Amino acid sequence: MDKVSLLQDKMKQALLGGGEKRIESQHNKGKLTARERIQLLLDEGSFEEIGMLVTHRARDFGMEKEVYLGDGVVTGYGTVNGRLVYVFSQDFTVFGGSLSETHAEKICKIMDLAVENGAPVIGLNDSGGARIQEGVVSLGGYADIFHRNVKSSGVVPQISAVMGPCAGGAVYSPAITDFILMVENTSYMFVTGPNVVKTVTHEEVTSEELGGAQTHASKSGVTHFACANEVECIENIKQLLSYMPQNCEEDAPVYAYEKGDEIRTALNNIIPENPNQPYDMKEVIEEVVDADSFLEVHKHYAENIVVGFARLGGRSIGIVANQPASLAGVLDIESSRKGARFVRFCDAFNVPLLVLVDVPGFLPGTDQEWHGIITNGAKLLYALSEATVPKITVITRKAYGGAYDVMNSKHIGADMNYAWPTAEIAVMGAKGAAEIIFRKEIAAAEDSEAKLKEKEAEYIEKFANPYGAAARGYIDEVILPEATREKLIKAYHMLQNKVAERPKRKHGNIPL
Ligand code: HXC
Repeated sequence: MDKVSLLQDKMKQALLGGGEKRIESQHNKGKLTARERIQLLLDEGSFEEIGMLVTHRARDFGMEKEVYLGDGVVTGYGTVNGRLVYVFSQDFTVFGGSLSETHAEKICKIMDLAVENGAPVIGLNDSGGARIQEGVVSLGGYADIFHRNVKSSGVVPQISAVMGPCAGGAVYSPAITDFILMVENTSYMFVTGPNVVKTVTHEEVTSEELGGAQTHASKSGVTHFACANEVECIENIKQLLSYMPQNCEEDAPVYAYEKGDEIRTALNNIIPENPNQPYDMKEVIEEVVDADSFLEVHKHYAENIVVGFARLGGRSIGIVANQPASLAGVLDIESSRKGARFVRFCDAFNVPLLVLVDVPGFLPGTDQEWHGIITNGAKLLYALSEATVPKITVITRKAYGGAYDVMNSKHIGADMNYAWPTAEIAVMGAKGAAEIIFRKEIAAAEDSEAKLKEKEAEYIEKFANPYGAAARGYIDEVILPEATREKLIKAYHMLQNKVAERPKRKHGNIPL
């Protein structure tokens, strides 16, 4: 065979991964191959492969006779909407996508290139875990990846799609990355599988129940997105990337938007007459941001807080919003953690923050206290407080108690604080407040029910409005709801060159 044909032959062989039969089996499971996924993800013709001819070095258990070019992972770089990304895509047709020493080296190589050249890393995971025939070198390979995940964190965006098995310690690479996407019915993540669970805890559970996409999207919050299929998953990755800069030194791309309809009168009618009646904060978001630009993150987890990306006047923002339509928008352990994690991503990658507030306070109860609402609530406080990106708050209705402080108040460094005329900024709700401060008076009254109502009304008159806070400058402006979009576009523009220096330190100590 001449030299050119030899190379061509090797390339052809590499493209087939573990062979036609295994590709067919992959398709029969409703899964795409590693290369098909890359093709869907990257701009046509942009993929440049690195390490196509890498092979494993194992010599035990007859492995020397079973060698596949590429060794179970396709790695390289290309573009998504014209922007450079690095990608690795595990090939389940080669030893179940399991991670060998060389497989890990290939992933590490592109992770190093990504950091050196300042571009995101996208991992498409589909793997049976550590290559069992290789023993500790495989474990070492995982740790080499984990270490790079950590060193890259906050330097370049890291996105993990889980498109098949992801079990054991292997879960910790996606866990460290910025966003996880899972595919319903074909992917799962767990530290120990159903068999071990049964042995140890005697629980009977399927892989899907234990660690499928829906489980992690709604129960654990491990995944940020549960996608109906692989195509949707890859589309989500592309959309997610559109809100992010390439690295921590840059800003996200600016998109064109339709100018001229900045006054949104629908916002004037969103808050119900009755302050205890819920409404959907997502309607506020949709009215405020550029048309169809809102991408909700963690949609099914801790629904009492809404987080996600959007564009305002063509520029990326990260939104954190209490959701009165779920648990009255109360802050609890899960919503605090969800909000904090999102805020930290935005701050790390120069995405300005918008905080929409309608919060009755922190959730009371032994469950919350015993599971650490103190430490977990502090995460959100810490994250918003430490963020140096432009930070703007709009209080639509309630801002009560400690939650007022936590939700990006002026005092913890917000740049602009707006309130709607419907805002109620107080230590607590009027009824609770009246019961405490007028307790004796109410008890002594002939008609204590009527007295309570009277005192409640007094408290509402005094505090259930934004004007006390505005008088002190804690609120910069009380605005008409319809003007919110216009005000925000102008304010973010005004803040676009914000520089916020912090004292020198190694790193802060967020209450983990
Ligand atoms: C080597 C593996 C492998 C592995 C699968 N294969 N997992 N080879 N190391 N870890 C091979 C199989 O032998 C098979 O080879 C092919 O991949 C496809 O596997 P199947 O079992 O036929 O596929 P399926 O029925 O879809 O089941 C997939 C699976 C199962 C659930 C992932 O293969 C499985 O349970 N594998 C073992 C998982 C595991 O215990 N891994 C180690 C976990 S510990 P052929 O030649 O038939 O195609 C771990 C620790 C990480 O990962 C620690 C990091 C710190």
